Amino acid sequence: MRTPLLAANWKMNGSREFAERFFTELNLEGVKSGVVVCPSFPYLGLVADAAEKSGGFSLGAQDLSQEPKGAFTGEVSASMLLDWNTRYVIVGHSERRSLYGETSELVAKKFVAAQEAGLTPILCVGETLEEREQERTLEVVAEQLQAVADIIDSAGWKQSVIAYEPVWAIGTGKTATPDEAQAVHAFIRSQLGDLGAEVQILYGGSVKSANARELFAQADIDGALVGGASLDAGEFAEICRAAV
Ligand code: 13P
Repeated sequence: MRTPLLAANWKMNGSREFAERFFTELNLEGVKSGVVVCPSFPYLGLVADAAEKSGGFSLGAQDLSQEPKGAFTGEVSASMLLDWNTRYVIVGHSERRSLYGETSELVAKKFVAAQEAGLTPILCVGETLEEREQERTLEVVAEQLQAVADIIDSAGWKQSVIAYEPVWAIGTGKTATPDEAQAVHAFIRSQLGDLGAEVQILYGGSVKSANARELFAQADIDGALVGGASLDAGEFAEICRAAV
């Protein structure tokens, strides 16, 4: 039985004032899923404190370095994230891949760096609109997964979460239909080998309370990675409540 997981990816949004207000407004009563909030690095401490006080959610980061330490100006290591009781870390978000040139090979190294430190990586995969129109969705997703599979052993998927985020659905208001998403989620699960049945596979791309329930009703959709709608504490809590 996979417990649903709901992750808020604030991206480069928010402020100290926003984060403080968010947690005074966030009411997770009636939520049965796991909940993760991923702020920008400067707010990790603030969110860690809020998580400790309320106990209702975990802390996640949006990225990490593949290196453990050293002369890498601007980077943040897995052990630094652990210092703030971070439990999850997003790796390979499509914005990191497309805007910052992260290759699948680099993403795979980040995945391993996170896991070796004891963090749970949330590995993002997904196709662009062009790739979908060329009917290459499964091929693209398989390649993104394979880069990780190449450098982990078969047990490596166990301590991980996958997020299927079709690039064309991110921040666009367009969502994959439940059937479209389910087909890719089932494919992803089939690629994860024996441990596939245990891995939480989240959907991401314009998830809101109005469409969450029908997505979560799909057999292989175990929750969501939520961008824009996670900036509103009330709306995010509604999405969390939709997962049972
Ligand atoms: P939106 O929910 O804003 O489409 O963003 C999805 C996403 O990229 C989460 O990581």
